[in-house]
Amino acid sequence: MQEFIIWIILAYFLGNISTSYFVGKIMGNIDIRNHGSGNAGATNALRVLGVKAGVITLIGDMLKGMIIVGLAKYFGNFQLALACGLAVIIGHDFPVLFHFKGGKGIATSIGVFTFIDPIVTILSVIIGLIIILKSKYVSLGSIVAMVLAPFIMILLKRPKQLIIYTFIISLLTIYQHRSNLKRLFNGTENKLVK
Ligand code: G3P
Repeated sequence: MQEFIIWIILAYFLGNISTSYFVGKIMGNIDIRNHGSGNAGATNALRVLGVKAGVITLIGDMLKGMIIVGLAKYFGNFQLALACGLAVIIGHDFPVLFHFKGGKGIATSIGVFTFIDPIVTILSVIIGLIIILKSKYVSLGSIVAMVLAPFIMILLKRPKQLIIYTFIISLLTIYQHRSNLKRLFNGTENKLVK
C-alpha cells in the first residue's frame, strides 16, 4: 500500500511539471497562462509562441504520461499503471506547484493511453486529427476524440473496468474544456489557423 501511494504521489508531481510553462519562460519570457486562451498546453503554446513551442509542449506533456504509465506497468502491474495514469493527468490539470492552474490534459492523456490501450489511442487520435483539420478547432477535436474513446472501447469489447476508467477521464476532459464548449456554442472559439 505504501509503495502504491508513493507511485501515485510521484505521478501527480510529474504531472505538475508543466512543459508549456517552461517553454513560455524559456522561449518567450512569458507565463503562458496569461496569454492566448490562458491554457498551459500545446495548443496555446503554438498559438502564442509558434509551432516549435507547440511541438515541444506536445511531446513533453505526452512523455509525462508515457513515462509514468510505462514504468508502473513494467515495475508494477496494470492496475498501478491505471492509477498512475489518472494521477499524472490530475497533476497536469490541477498542479499544486503552479497554484492549481494547469492544462486540459489532452497531450498527457494521449501519453497515458499509449501504454494502456495503443489501438484505441491511435483510433481516437486519428478521429481527433480529422476533426481538427476539418474544423480548425483543436478543442472540438480533443473533446470528440476523448468522448468517443470509451465507446470505441465498448465496440472493441474491452474490459468493463477500462471502459469506466476511460469514461471518467472523458468527463474530466469535458470539465476542463468547459470554457471552450461555451465558445464553441456561441461561435467565438479560437481557430488554430484563422
Ligand atoms: O488540449 C487543449 C485544447 O483542446 C484547447 O486548447 O488553448 O484552445 O483552450 P485552448
